[in-house]
Amino acid sequence: MSAYEKLYEGKAKIVYQTDDPDVLLVCFKDDATAFNAQKRGQIVGKGEMNCKISTRLFQLLQAAGMPTHFIDSPAAAQMRVWRVDIVPIEAIVRNIAAGSLCRQTGLPLGKVLPRPLVEFCYKNDALGDPLLTRDRLQMLELAAPEQIQTMENYCLQINEILGDFFNECGITLVDFKLEFGIVPPTAGPTSPFAAGTLLLADEISPDTCRLWQQSEDDPQKRVLDKDRFRQNLPDVEAAYQQVLDRVTGH
Ligand code: TMP
Repeated sequence: MSAYEKLYEGKAKIVYQTDDPDVLLVCFKDDATAFNAQKRGQIVGKGEMNCKISTRLFQLLQAAGMPTHFIDSPAAAQMRVWRVDIVPIEAIVRNIAAGSLCRQTGLPLGKVLPRPLVEFCYKNDALGDPLLTRDRLQMLELAAPEQIQTMENYCLQINEILGDFFNECGITLVDFKLEFGIVPPTAGPTSPFAAGTLLLADEISPDTCRLWQQSEDDPQKRVLDKDRFRQNLPDVEAAYQQVLDRVTGH
């Protein structure tokens, strides 16, 4: 897929070095996993669709002033990004109860939350990405307290921007997961960001968001995200394609 050295292969993406030490190439895969990789499969065309959806959403956030790792998308399913050290925290923002929030609190699926809820999980597959309390976050020193505060502020800003945008697309942003990274001390002259800067990283796609089609009340038909794969619902590819078409205005 690339002549460059492979640095890392995850469940949904492969990361390569490029000629510029500050720049990485991310290749999005069609592979899909759920339940900490206990369920595995493929969503045909997912790599390309998620890369295009992520590209659109990163551009939208950048235009609103959000610092992100996104540089450009040189080819289908490929994204160039600024190198960061990923903070081992998964930040989850929820507007409507679904998924683990329902399982862990008993809230009914679809309950609109009184205000957006920001949650932090430990990004650690061996431990099953457990939800962390604020005290555990501090104790584990996964990030500095100011960085955690900045992450939370960014999460709420991103929720406003993406929520409004998806709404214009006829889609409800139920919840989503974000990852952040820190510009390393080795960042060279081509990097526009100072070492230590916190950047939004990873991807924003139907793999990492819950997205419900507003014109559809049926709780299965409305799902336009990876819950179709998790729950063995049909037409997974068509749902991702619909998100892509809507966010790119087709
Ligand atoms: P959850 O309800 O299963 O905790 O998921 C919350 C959000 O995070 C949902 O939009 C899906 C996303 N997510 C990921 O991006 N990666 C994961 O590994 C999991 C479990 C959820």
